[in-house]
Amino acid sequence: MPTDDPPTLILLHAFPLDLDMCRQQVAALGGKQRVLALDLPGFGQSPQRSGFTVDSAADLEAQTAPDRVVVCGLSMGGYVALAFARRYPERLAGLILADTRSEPDDPTGKQNRDRMIGLTREFGPSAVYDAMLPKILSEGTRTQRIEVVEEVRRIAARQSAEGVIGGLIALRDRPDATPVLADIAVPTLILVGEHDAITPPVVASAMAARIRGSKLITIPGAGHLSNLENPAAFNAAVAEFLDTHLCR
Ligand code: MLT
Repeated sequence: MPTDDPPTLILLHAFPLDLDMCRQQVAALGGKQRVLALDLPGFGQSPQRSGFTVDSAADLEAQTAPDRVVVCGLSMGGYVALAFARRYPERLAGLILADTRSEPDDPTGKQNRDRMIGLTREFGPSAVYDAMLPKILSEGTRTQRIEVVEEVRRIAARQSAEGVIGGLIALRDRPDATPVLADIAVPTLILVGEHDAITPPVVASAMAARIRGSKLITIPGAGHLSNLENPAAFNAAVAEFLDTHLCR
């Protein structure tokens, strides 16, 4: 049944983390509308599922979420958000893509996923985080914000090896979402950390150019985990987007 309530904001986390990385967004954005952070399959409290793909994660999200949603996907969560936009366009009231991309892995990227799978099998999930650390946070965060480094390490270290391996396979095998971009017909916000080394600003602006009417905002001082590295700027951008487009 149609309702005038603002749509629920769904937050989808990055790899190799869980919904806890969205804690500050749940706290800051929850006043005017319902905010739901979800664990992707095999991460946090969500059980490991064989055959996890970005499409099957979008299907699970569709089963859990209310009818009308704004989906905010961070990196891996962004890949799932784009799968949701393709599979459930009628459920989508708005889209927020943070530090993510539409393109699939290239052959070198796929080889790197396989190397990470080997690292996880041999040394456990923290090895993946340690390998990613130089790229996942900006230099400023790494050298001056030790509490953020420790928080990311704490969340990454508690993921299971099976969950991390399942995530790496889903990342490696994800489809090209670029053709979906031209079909997105809802208000869309694209966020990117100024120093994001994994999905850099040039990638974000190419994606913005393909989504009609989308808005691109760069988060100052942040790397790839912009919601954790500069939560004040991230939350302000999301709140303004929701207020402007979704009549909260
Ligand atoms: C993430 O933050 O979710 C990952 O860096 C995404 C990726 O490696 O493609």
